Amino acid sequence: MAQPRPLALVTGASAGIGAVFARRLAAAGHDLLLIARRRERLEQLARDIQTRHPVTAEALPADLAEEPGLKLVEDRILASPNLSLLVNNAGFGARGMFFDSPVEVQDRMHRLHILATLRLTHAALRVMRPRNRGAIINVSSLAAFFITPGHTSYSVTKGWINSFTEGLAKELKAAGSAVRVQALCPGFTYTEFHDVMGTDRGEVHPRLWMQPEAVVDASLKALRHGRVVVVPGRFYAAAAMLANALPRFVTRRLPSRPPGFYHQ
Ligand SMILES: NC(=O)c1ccc[n+]([C@@H]2O[C@H](COP(=O)([O-])OP(=O)(O)OC[C@H]3O[C@@H](n4cnc5c(N)ncnc54)[C@H](OP(=O)(O)O)[C@@H]3O)[C@@H](O)[C@H]2O)c1
Repeated sequence: MAQPRPLALVTGASAGIGAVFARRLAAAGHDLLLIARRRERLEQLARDIQTRHPVTAEALPADLAEEPGLKLVEDRILASPNLSLLVNNAGFGARGMFFDSPVEVQDRMHRLHILATLRLTHAALRVMRPRNRGAIINVSSLAAFFITPGHTSYSVTKGWINSFTEGLAKELKAAGSAVRVQALCPGFTYTEFHDVMGTDRGEVHPRLWMQPEAVVDASLKALRHGRVVVVPGRFYAAAAMLANALPRFVTRRLPSRPPGFYHQ
């Protein structure tokens, strides 16, 4: 009997990095489950992918910051024995001091970046572990390495993604599992992210911007080599390495940029 094609589930597929993951994975022969809130965007992408590649692409609209949407996607994962790749990519940024920002925004960010990543990863591992195959990419950020004023919730939720992914990588290795996990930490990437956040791209030096295609290609290449924490771009990789190497008491004393300077 013919084997079903491998299935990739991409969250936040209606724009930016997620949409590029979907296109690249379709080109590599994956069927797709596309998740985000904007149904029309997802359906348009699914149609476009199916005209270009001999795969199936299904739009599954869901708000992952809310329990019904999260449960819907969790259940789909548990019912998908051919799931070979989960990309936890949905996310957003918000600017403003924690104490001046609406708690609802902070709450949604924690639910989306932490709770949704945790629940979907757990469901995916229940499918992948028994087959001893598959991979999970958790899209984090360079902000995970730098806690900056005005972006505390963003930095700490992305920091959680890194620690969580590194912990899982150790557990999977200790269990002798071939399932791979990756925390992808992009720097400034040209997507809708900064429009959603309402920040001016002009505040960032033009040479610092990466295209989402370069970010996704770096991630998929690193996945083939089994790298756990991936920072695309030489400049950003060096910055992350430096942040890791410096003791905390030094990084705490580094001059703070005004809120809004670091958008990633
Ligand atoms: N762009 C950057 O500079 C940058 C840098 C570092 C890390 N990142 C990370 O990269 C990831 C992708 O961001 P992007 O740059 O591609 O931004 P984007 O173009 O704004 O895309 C964000 C995606 O997340 C989806 N999303 C947002 N809230 C959601 C929710 N509650 N439920 C389901 N889906 C939701 C959006 O779709 P809907 O609006 O249709 O729901 C959209 O598809 C994020 O995790 C972000 O933190 C981005």
